[in-house]
Amino acid sequence: MIAATTTNLAWIILAVVLVGWVLYGLFNIRSSRRELGSEIELAANRKPYYDDEILEGKKIERTQLLGLAFLAIITVSLPLYWVLEPGRQEGAERGFDKRFASWGSKLFASTADGGFNCAGCHGGMKATGGNAPFAITDVKTNEVKSVTWKAPALNNVYHRFSEAEVRFILEYGRPFSPMSPWGLVGGGPMNEQQIDNLIAYMRTIQVPRENCDNPNDDARTCLGGTMPASSQKEIQAEAVRLVKSGAYKTVGEALFNLDLGGGAYSCARCHTKGWSYGDPQVTGGGAFGPNLTGGSSVRQFPNQDDMIAFIKGGSEYGKKYGEQGQGGGRMPGFGGIYSDEQIKSIVEYVRSL
Ligand code: HEC
Ligand code: HEC
Repeated sequence: MIAATTTNLAWIILAVVLVGWVLYGLFNIRSSRRELGSEIELAANRKPYYDDEILEGKKIERTQLLGLAFLAIITVSLPLYWVLEPGRQEGAERGFDKRFASWGSKLFASTADGGFNCAGCHGGMKATGGNAPFAITDVKTNEVKSVTWKAPALNNVYHRFSEAEVRFILEYGRPFSPMSPWGLVGGGPMNEQQIDNLIAYMRTIQVPRENCDNPNDDARTCLGGTMPASSQKEIQAEAVRLVKSGAYKTVGEALFNLDLGGGAYSCARCHTKGWSYGDPQVTGGGAFGPNLTGGSSVRQFPNQDDMIAFIKGGSEYGKKYGEQGQGGGRMPGFGGIYSDEQIKSIVEYVRSL
């Protein structure tokens, strides 16, 4: 805002100066015309110069006054510059973000719109979740089977992953899935600037997060209720309904497996092989996320409260969790999605596996 004001002021000053020069030039031409033919008398080097009286009096005073005036301008403008500069820098940074985001939107667009088709798989420019065609090779029979893999919504991706984690996903992809690596480091086609642009674009499509003032906060610093309480109730009702219908034995099991709608999925998409393409193997048997069966989570988290805290916050790159776990930053936090009650029932279910 301030930066825009200073820029506008600078333009106005420039305009005034330019107009001033043009006027000065015009007047000069006009007055010189009046003096046509009298150049010899009026030539500057023929005019007798001021005597000492004037030179050491009025003239020197005027020069000193002029110096003082310039000094005053400097004393005022330097601090003013110092005060306004941070605002200008902030404005410039925001300008960059905006430009990056608009470039990113071009990359994000579907193939038909000349982009890299993020929108095609992830449910449009707003990335509300979609489906991706994929081919799976059965290791035993060597049979190739075409499947449809659920592509999660990305309009909430910063609610579960930090920016560094999103960057990792974009650069290296999920190599076992339709999500290919996009960064040069992962063997993809995009340079660092293009990845930056995508990161900036995805910031602009995030759905608002409740109880969270700054949408740029790290997901883990802001776990209070991404999911509105009303939706949490709906999810709970759906889980209870599924238990009553006999699809699952406990609410925790239902919540572990649920498709939450709007391109949001639960634990099974990462911890159950085949869940994402409609051919689920052993529940919690391990896929992208580790195997949770055989009581492994009880061994990792002898204390149930530690496990609850881990599920709420997710893993952090390089940080220890549980007994001997080291986070890869790939397990998202669910504290913003489920209520404490719901996390407890999921944890109890997982510990029973
Ligand atoms: C061919 C379809 C396809 C394309 C194109 C695609 N993705 Fe994906 N993407 C997926 C699928 C499927 C997943 C989920 C993989 C899994 O199950 O772990 C995914 C996962 C992700 C994730 C991780 C989200 C999470 O919660 O696990 C991000 C971030 C992402 N994609 C961003 C992008 C961006 C940005 C682009 C464009 C450069 C893109 N994707 C292009 C299919 C695609
Ligand atoms: C986007 C994929 C993803 C989702 C969704 C996910 N996890 Fe994970 N989970 C992981 C990964 C990957 C790890 C390994 C830690 C790492 O790499 O950061 C992990 C680790 C864990 C661990 C520790 C296992 C061990 O023995 O070290 C537990 C327990 C766990 N997840 C439970 C859950 C539960 C419960 C949910 C649902 C509420 C869930 N996960 C959802 C990917 C996921």
